Amino acid sequence: MKDKNFPEPGKKFKNVLSGIIDSKNEIAPFFSSENAVVFNNDCLEILDRMPENSINMIFADPPYMLSNNGFTCRNGRMAKVNKGKWDESKGFEEDIKFHDAWITACRRVLKPEGTIWISGTYHSIYQCGYILQKNNFHILNDITWFKPNASSNLSCRFFTASHETVIWARKDKKAKHTFNYEKMKNGKFPEDKIKKENTQMRSVWSIPAPKNSGKEFGKHPTQKPLDLLLRIITASTNEGDIILDPFNGGGTTGAASLTAGNRFYVGTEIDIEYCGLTKNRLLKLKKETSPIT
Ligand SMILES: C[S@@+](CC[C@H](N)C(=O)[O-])C[C@H]1O[C@@H](n2cnc3c(N)ncnc32)[C@H](O)[C@@H]1O
Repeated sequence: MKDKNFPEPGKKFKNVLSGIIDSKNEIAPFFSSENAVVFNNDCLEILDRMPENSINMIFADPPYMLSNNGFTCRNGRMAKVNKGKWDESKGFEEDIKFHDAWITACRRVLKPEGTIWISGTYHSIYQCGYILQKNNFHILNDITWFKPNASSNLSCRFFTASHETVIWARKDKKAKHTFNYEKMKNGKFPEDKIKKENTQMRSVWSIPAPKNSGKEFGKHPTQKPLDLLLRIITASTNEGDIILDPFNGGGTTGAASLTAGNRFYVGTEIDIEYCGLTKNRLLKLKKETSPIT
């Protein structure tokens, strides 16, 4: 995107970044382009440096805290559920403190009319919902993301997990948030066998989880489908908006921001391997222009 087409948002994006990128403190992006930047840092470190009330929309897919040495079924075989050290629970109280810290930091940088989406399973989503309410967010919806291709349950002693919840909340109850109603009602969603054409978008979305074939730039164990993020971004942002993902992972939010077009993306990710994966993914989208720094 050229600044002359979107002069104000371009300036705002650079303004957000100029507070973060400070050579004296050695914070530099892992990867940056004119409309996307990824930091290989803890999200709290980067959020602390961002100007308040500067971000239009946040999508956050925090650790699920479900890596407890249990087993799941992957490609028809028994496999450990463990995703990585970052996904281990530190106990109820510590997990609550973790979610409180990042959600509070997100609240500060979000514009009053801005919205936040948080995804998770029952391992984490109730804690996040509680913290959102404690911090005076106004919940707009809880979306059920149904996965028609979910893995089987091995134990056959309870139901097969086949959905995640995505909470959508507004910072300020009185502010007017973005909801592109017509685009949701009349858009094309061929991946969704539940959505009927030209009817209101409901709160249950059927979107297949990405298969290995959809991970051509490397594997992230909890990568979200591009269609899920594209829907979220199309529904709740406009051209020129700045989108933040504090738990960038494999960069799905960045990829969806660039695919939606004319949006700006800031991602933070503690694992350098996933930053590399994101870089390759975003480069492939051919939206790369001149570096910011
Ligand atoms: C659930 S995954 C996100 C997956 C992502 N939505 C995608 O589609 O690929 C969470 C990610 O957050 C990262 N992470 C965990 N704690 C973090 C922190 N404090 N700051 C930044 N990233 C963190 C992990 O390394 C992991 O890649």
